[in-house]
Amino acid sequence: MPYYSGDLIEEVISQNDIVEVISEYVNLKKSGRNYMGLCPFHREKTPSFCVSMDKQIFKCFGCSEGGNVISFIMKVENIDFWEAVEMLAERANIDTSRYEVASSYNNKSAQESKDIKDTLFKLNKDVAVFYRNNLMELLKEDNNDVKSYIMQRKLDMKTITKFGIGYATGKEPLYDYLLRLGYTKEEMLQSGIILQSSNGKYYDRFYSRIIFPIFDIRDRVLAFGGRAFSAKVLDKTIPKYVNSPENDIYHKGKTLYLMNFAKREKLDNIIIVEGYMDAIALQKFGFSNAVASLGTALTENQARLIKKYTDNVIIGYDQDEAGQGATMRGLDILASHGLKVKVLKLDRDDVKDPDEYLNKYGAERLKKCIDNAISLVEFKVSILEKHLDLNDFDSKVKFLTGVANILSKIDNNIERELYIDKISQKYGMSPGPILKEVEKGLKKNSSDDVVIDMQSLGKKMQLITNVRKRQEQYIIALLLSKKKNVQDKIIENIKSSDIENEDVRKIYDFILSLRDNYDINKIDILSKIHDEDMIKEITDIMYIDISGYEEKLLQDVLKNKKKEKLIIRRDEILKRLGEDVTKDESDILKLELNQIIIELSKLK
Ligand code: UTP
Ligand code: MN
Repeated sequence: MPYYSGDLIEEVISQNDIVEVISEYVNLKKSGRNYMGLCPFHREKTPSFCVSMDKQIFKCFGCSEGGNVISFIMKVENIDFWEAVEMLAERANIDTSRYEVASSYNNKSAQESKDIKDTLFKLNKDVAVFYRNNLMELLKEDNNDVKSYIMQRKLDMKTITKFGIGYATGKEPLYDYLLRLGYTKEEMLQSGIILQSSNGKYYDRFYSRIIFPIFDIRDRVLAFGGRAFSAKVLDKTIPKYVNSPENDIYHKGKTLYLMNFAKREKLDNIIIVEGYMDAIALQKFGFSNAVASLGTALTENQARLIKKYTDNVIIGYDQDEAGQGATMRGLDILASHGLKVKVLKLDRDDVKDPDEYLNKYGAERLKKCIDNAISLVEFKVSILEKHLDLNDFDSKVKFLTGVANILSKIDNNIERELYIDKISQKYGMSPGPILKEVEKGLKKNSSDDVVIDMQSLGKKMQLITNVRKRQEQYIIALLLSKKKNVQDKIIENIKSSDIENEDVRKIYDFILSLRDNYDINKIDILSKIHDEDMIKEITDIMYIDISGYEEKLLQDVLKNKKKEKLIIRRDEILKRLGEDVTKDESDILKLELNQIIIELSKLK
């Protein structure tokens, strides 16, 4: 792809009306000054996807995706920034050749980062081919360790080919191979596959391991996992699995292993398991809706990724304590994204994960377990039960209170009552006392002056930070207001270090740095940002409508910042006065304190 001048971006944005472009993908309805529709980036039944004609931006208030027309095309078509620019240029019949420039132009950094990504993808692909060929050679031989391990894990030829499984033979071969293909040492190190030892030698991170390539949803190889199988794994002198580190293309928490295969099917639900081998075994046995989170805690990004394809998830984590803890944490993240979550319970406890279960008891029997997957509530109750001996009276009381606590968190009355019936039957208790306890719990939940458990404490903290964050978002909103005197006042009075919220501070710094090279009132700031989280944050801010209130808001913001500073100083002084200070110092401090108190009262 040629290098383009930044003017092309401005031209593309001005020639492609965002409402028209998005209408080609989403059914939009006018609503006041905005257009609303069903978000194409997550599943929803009521519209929370909002397009602003005036601002030429979009924002989903459900999943928080947002941006300008270029970001929309990038996301919806799953293409890079410059690909999206080209596509939109074509749509508007703009002659892009007029904008081609030599590579030294200031858009270089975006271009370069695309070049780096392309190289990493290509290198990964070459590496995957290399590893796979190694394995194929070994499987042709009569007998060797690798071959017997592959057979033992029941990985047949079809599975190996489909999932690109390979083998990293020794420390050197991969490095030599990549050199021959013309990759530089820097590129190899950047991929994280090649490491440099303390004596300067380059070697393969995955040597002597079975290789599992990790794909993105477009089937590109992002990273690798490698499993060791020598005796050293058993005596724990080396880790069982080694994984690629994160880099420009691989972000652990944003990927789900085998999602590229799962998404090809019509998905009623998705099964999330922990390990490479679990996802592979499930897919091999026909459960093409299986993906793996690869041993890390589930992230918000993964929840969003799932939500694009289905509303129903089954968690099939290991049946041990660790797996159950992970299940518990995962449940809450998934549920908070509106996913209906169930938990897979294997009906045998001589196996620890779906892979082992499938190989021992077969697909039909696992299918039954999947059909019987239990709900979030039942899972929590079963964990509670496991930790208590229900023959003992005290424990029974604890169990009852615990159950009531879990049930009182259910919003829906009917659902709650159904559970009370179900649980009282299952544990042979009469429903009356449970109901009473639940009602107590409900009252407790609704009274807002007590902070009982960690969860509600967390929520309160969240609220306080949100209010403070909102104040700081106004600073950015004012900076974007196009009123020069307001902007100058902000810059004059607010230092980056005054901003507490990291996301907001990042944007503040960014806009200030833009001002060094551009007139920020004339350029499209969104298209200068390439970081997804920053785009989400700034589109949030762009939707705050402050027009007509700029001056008033400016006064508020400056006043609040001044107040904050005074309070910090006041508390410092009070602390100091409580310590061992000389009379002289104490007098000076008291004088200053007095002054601060007067100023604070003026600011009220
Ligand atoms: P498991 O040990 O449950 O994996 O760890 P598994 O897939 O069942 O492994 P097998 O069947 O023994 O081959 C779950 C996941 O946690 C990560 C891997 O992604 C693994 O698949 N893991 C585990 C690591 O990254 N490093 C480790 O040392 C162990
Ligand atoms: Mn396993």
